[in-house]
Parts: sequence; structure tokens; C-alpha cells
Amino acid sequence: MITSTLLVCAIILFLIGVWNRNFARKNSPPGPFKWPIVGNFLMMKGKAPHLFAKDLYLKYGPVVRIQIGDCSSVFLTEYDTIKEAFVDKPEIFAPRFPRASREKAFRGMSIIATSGEFHKKARGIASSHITQSRFKKLEEDISHEIELLCDALKETSNGGTLIDPHKYIKSCALNIIFKFLFGKSIRCDYGDNSTNQLVVEINQVVQIAARPFLQDFFPYLTKLLDGRPKVFFERFESLHEYTMSIVNERLKVYDGSTEPTDLLEEYIVRYKKGEIELDAIGFIMIDLILAGTDTSANTILFTISALCDNPDIQEKLFSELNGVIGDRLPHMTDKSALPYTNAVIKESLRRFSVAPLGLTHVATEDTEIRGYTIRKGDQIIQNLYATGLSPKEWNNPEEYDPSRFLNNDSTKYKTVFGCGPRVCLGMSLAESELFLIISTIFKTFKFKSDKRIGTDTIFGVTLSPVAYQVSVDTR
Ligand code: HEM
Repeated sequence: MITSTLLVCAIILFLIGVWNRNFARKNSPPGPFKWPIVGNFLMMKGKAPHLFAKDLYLKYGPVVRIQIGDCSSVFLTEYDTIKEAFVDKPEIFAPRFPRASREKAFRGMSIIATSGEFHKKARGIASSHITQSRFKKLEEDISHEIELLCDALKETSNGGTLIDPHKYIKSCALNIIFKFLFGKSIRCDYGDNSTNQLVVEINQVVQIAARPFLQDFFPYLTKLLDGRPKVFFERFESLHEYTMSIVNERLKVYDGSTEPTDLLEEYIVRYKKGEIELDAIGFIMIDLILAGTDTSANTILFTISALCDNPDIQEKLFSELNGVIGDRLPHMTDKSALPYTNAVIKESLRRFSVAPLGLTHVATEDTEIRGYTIRKGDQIIQNLYATGLSPKEWNNPEEYDPSRFLNNDSTKYKTVFGCGPRVCLGMSLAESELFLIISTIFKTFKFKSDKRIGTDTIFGVTLSPVAYQVSVDTR
């Protein structure tokens, strides 16, 4: 009995050894011990994925391989590693890693979640719409929206009450995306998100989308888990119905024969020319709302928390803004005259990479990165959070210190937007939005917290700060 038990154990250990050697062959990137079938899935349980990925980097280096179910995944950290893959070898690394859940939700019609012809066409239309003159007009609209944000903050914070700035900043970011997509037709009121059906649907989809979907990592479960979690697919469908109702309303008043005034009309023009399906427009609108709202909003919320915890930096920022701009509100044309303001924005992007693991890619061929073999079919994850906090890239990386960007024209912080052909489509919009919102609110208000907020983060589709309350006093 004992002999046969020992024999079974020996065979299991041998098979586990063979399984792990299989990963270790041909110059494979280092990584933790992998269990058969589940790989490293259980190791990740209970740990926020971006912190797990940062630990992997600190322990194993800039190229690490792990196994999640059936999916072999490689984490790339540090600027040179990410650049070597996405800028030097775009033909191998540009496509998205296919995920059963995303394919079902978007039905193959998305900028974010697809690769190949559809992606090229859909992204091309959006990029061609963002001309310099349209962008200038959008910047005027953004400034107007920020004035409304300031009015709402003044009204609520009257008398030094503590407020949670999340819903104000999120509504502002959402209204800016709505403006970009739908022109004047949709807005959400400050402080009253519940009245806007779109806002409710978006929040529900975002919350569920952040959870791991088992069918994405165990393909043999795809059939069994098809359409699950049910609540996600129902909400997603309902969100699509809602964006399609906006598209259909617009079709009643816009026939595509005049110059488009917003991105929706640009897509309608292309639909009328037979370049894109009508249903796809609804999915692309969802794409841009999901990608463009919480990313910008959370970067601003992290900035408010960091500047409450570092009042000397907040004062330095105010004094630059007040000295250069005087009584009026900031414009984009002020940007080059405000080095400290720019440094604050860069530092917030670096310190709190709000898309901590980017959006995953797939290697389409066997290749090498930093001397390690990457295999065709590997899921490629940009470890952006760990790159921003890498002790090899930055001195005292955990410290919030904008002065690191003064007299330093390094653009490494821009890696937070990804790089190569799939670089963030909204990068210029996000940079203008961050500049206009941060310069305006810190010129107008002094933010204060009665206790230290800290740098804890909540993992989700985008990284968020923990909830906090601040007083907002007019300067
Ligand atoms: C602070 C703000 C933002 C950050 C840090 C950020 C970051 C990123 C990152 C890391 C990616 C993945 C890049 C890759 O796959 O290699 C991405 C993709 C994308 N972003 Fe952003 N983003 C921001 C704001 C925005 C905004 C405002 C919009 C919309 C207007 C937007 C639209 C997109 C889209 C559509 C993609 C997918 C591009 C593609 O797959 O071709 N993002 N973003």
C-alpha cells in the first residue's frame, strides 16, 4: 500500500517536473512554479493583479512568464522592454489577445477588443476625425465644461463642508467624452448621476468587467460558461441598445451629406458610404466611453489626493498658475509657460498608472525580447504600473515628486498610454483634458483633507484611489 502511494506521488512529482521543464525550455523567461492545469491561477487569488505583477517584476525581472489556466502569459516591464516589443516589433505584438468574453460582448465590432481589418477601419475613422481645427473647438468645449464643474464645486463646498469629489470629476470626464462623441445632445448633471440611464449602465458594466472571466483563461470552459456572468452580458446588451438609440435618433436628423460636427456624425457618414455597419457604431461608442472616462477622471482624483497629502506641492502649483495666468482661467496656449503644472501632470501619470496592465496583446510569431524566447500565442501584458514604480527607471519611485520632471525632457512617463500602433487613441484628448482640468481646479480652489489619504489603489478596469473626502475652498 505504502509502496504504491509512494509510486503515485513519484509519478505526479515527475509529471509536474516535466510540466515546469516544458516552460523552462529554450531560454524561456523566468517565473514562479506552475501547477498542472491551473498553472499560477491560485497564486493570484486574493491579490490585486497590478500588485501581483509588480511583485513578479521585483522578483524575476523585466520579462516574466506565468501560466493562467491554459493561457501562457508574459509580463513586460521597463521602458526598453515595452518599446522593444511594441515599437520595434509591431507586426508581431500589435494584435489583441483574443478573449471569449470580449468577443461575445462586442461581436467582433470594437476598436479596443479586435485586431485586423475591422480594427484598422474603425480606428482609422476616429483618428481621421480628430483634425487640429476640430480639436481646437473641442478644447473650447472642455473649458466650458470645466467652468460648470467649478460652479458645482463652489455650490456644494459652501461653508467648508467635506465632499467626495469622485462624482463631480467623473461627471466632468463623462461630459467631455459625450461632447467628443455626441456633440451637445447628451450631458449628465453634476452630483446627480442616477438620472442618467447611460451613466447607470456604464457603471454596472465597468464594475462587472473588472472581474476575471474563467472562459478567457480556460478555453474548454467557453461552451459551458457561454453568456456568463449573465448579468454582465445583459447589461452590456442593454448598453448597446442605449447607444444604438442615440445613433438612431441622430439618423433622423442627420443624413451624412453635411460636414460632421461630432464623432457620431463622422461614423454616420462612413455608414452611409458602406464603410461600416450601423450596429458597429453603437459598439464603438461604448468602447470610447469605457476607455475615456475613468482613465482621465481617476488620474485627476489621484492628483487631488496626492496634493492634499503634499500641501507644499499644491501651493507651488497654485503660485505658478496664479503668477503666470492672473485673474482669468487657463487656456491650452498657456501650457508651455507652466513647467511646474506640466511636471505635476506627468508625475500623476507615472505614479498612478491608471491602466496598470494596459490592454493585453498576443505574440503572433516566436520571437525574442531582451534575449528571452516569446512563443507564438503567448498573452503579452504591459506591466505599466510596475514600470512607473521601477527603481531602475526612477529615483525614489514611490515618492510623489513632480520636481523629477523639471529640467528633464524624458518622455518615459508616456508609456502609461502604451506605445506602437495600439497606443491609446485618446492620448491627445486625455493630455489636454488633464491640463485644462488640473490647471483650472487648482487655480480656483484649495483642496484639503483632515487626514492623510495615502496612495492605496483599487484595481478595476482602471485603477482608482480609495474613497476620500476633502474640503474645497475658493482661492
Ligand atoms: C489618463 C488617461 C488615459 C490613459 C492612461 C490611457 C491608457 C491607455 C492604454 C495603456 C491603452 C492600451 C494601449 C495598448 O494596447 O498598447 C489605451 C488604449 C485605448 N485608449 Fe486610452 N488612456 C487614457 C485616456 C483615453 C481617452 C480619453 C480615450 C478616448 C477618447 C481613450 C481611448 C482609448 C482607445 C480607443 C484605446 C484602444 C486603442 C486600440 O486598441 O487601438 N483613452 N489607453
